Amino acid sequence: MKVNWAERLWVNSPLRFLIQQRETRFFRRLRKLEPGTRCLEIGCGHGAGARIILDIFQPARLDGLDVDPFMIRLASRRQRKGRGGQLRFLVGDAQNLPYVNGRLDAVFNFGIIHHLENWRQGIREVARVLKSGGGFYFEEIYPPLYANAITRIMLEHPTENRFHGPEYRAALQREGLRLLPGYKESRFAILGVAVKE
Ligand SMILES: C[S@@+](CC[C@H](N)C(=O)[O-])C[C@H]1O[C@@H](n2cnc3c(N)ncnc32)[C@H](O)[C@@H]1O
Repeated sequence: MKVNWAERLWVNSPLRFLIQQRETRFFRRLRKLEPGTRCLEIGCGHGAGARIILDIFQPARLDGLDVDPFMIRLASRRQRKGRGGQLRFLVGDAQNLPYVNGRLDAVFNFGIIHHLENWRQGIREVARVLKSGGGFYFEEIYPPLYANAITRIMLEHPTENRFHGPEYRAALQREGLRLLPGYKESRFAILGVAVKE
């Protein structure tokens, strides 16, 4: 589900950029990437996360995918001023990724799985496109953060089949994604890396 105007303001803000930068450094401490890797960011929004991933992990190729053509237009416009062929942005659905099985070394998720109507299908797709030994780097949030008394009014999210930590971790395990030690979890969110078995 696309974000509404209020969430668009938030994800395009400098504070969001700083949080993503800090989280990506944390991801790298949990698991580095080998040189020459091919990566994807799902729900890339206006592309800030993708640029941070390029700086911190330096993959050979990174695709940023988002269901919202407006976000992809913003991301592509900014990209023209910077990186060349290493980075490309495309419109697509994280529940039906346009990649063959086992194609990618890493998939990044900055808070988009909870935007999916069928979030388990999103995790299934991440596992499908990852190579064996590939990494799923994620920041994910739970209803107490995005659907509490205030955020429920301000933001728009799917309301059916929502998940907290136990369901999210169980879904990773079911898809053969093993959570690495060192992940952080509260009642609001989880931050970590899982490796495809
Ligand atoms: C909360 S925003 C996060 C944006 C960015 N990753 C960040 O952390 O700032 C969620 C993003 O996921 C995208 N999104 C929602 N549903 C999606 C889907 N089915 N497939 C791909 N992207 C989706 C939205 O358009 C939006 O850009």
